[in-house]
Amino acid sequence: MNTKEFPIGKTRICLIQGDLTDMETDAIVNAANPSLMGGGGVDGAIHRKGGPKILEECKHIRATEWRNGLPTGKAVITSGGNLKARHVIHTVGPVWQGGNRGEPELLAEAYKNSLRLAVSEKLKTIAFPSISTGAYGYPIREASRIATETVKDFLEKVDKLETVVFVLFSAHDFEIYRKVAKEVFGFSISDEDSAA
Ligand code: APR
Repeated sequence: MNTKEFPIGKTRICLIQGDLTDMETDAIVNAANPSLMGGGGVDGAIHRKGGPKILEECKHIRATEWRNGLPTGKAVITSGGNLKARHVIHTVGPVWQGGNRGEPELLAEAYKNSLRLAVSEKLKTIAFPSISTGAYGYPIREASRIATETVKDFLEKVDKLETVVFVLFSAHDFEIYRKVAKEVFGFSISDEDSAA
């Protein structure tokens, strides 16, 4: 299986090609929409596999903390229901509108707030999909750079996480992230092996 590993301080960054709903990390991050009521893509996969408990908790969040919906860039946490992951962190990425409507900053916020929430919940491992690059149309090269640079900047300040995984659904997406990750994180462990 396609995997790459990069060390950032005490934290290990991994790139994996696969299905986010198979991950056994403390949390997986859902590319949700403001309703938190589910949808297609990774959102649909999480609710299908995680079962009704996740939706029940999302409904409670909508009835209490976020009555008008979860704003873009914010993040909330539920249990993982029937998933292997103990928790789901739901965040809303920006819809691509050409790049001049604050999309880069909002995408970075979605990653940052998900990481902040994981740390505040004392979680050690977290797995991200490629937020906003499906139905929300964000060009994946730009999105992958924002995702990796945001995670790197966060981990250079906060060393509470053991592992951060980027889970890419397709070989195409994995390859794009692999190239950007090599620039952003430097040599991957396997590159160092092969370079040795
Ligand atoms: N595992 C990992 N990645 C996945 C999976 C999966 N099971 N399913 C889809 N993906 C990938 C897509 O290939 C894409 O690269 O997740 C990335 C994000 O795509 P979307 O799930 O469409 O999310 P996004 O672009 O953020 O759009 C969010 O879509 O599903 C709805 O309710 C959701 O309205 C919201 C919108």
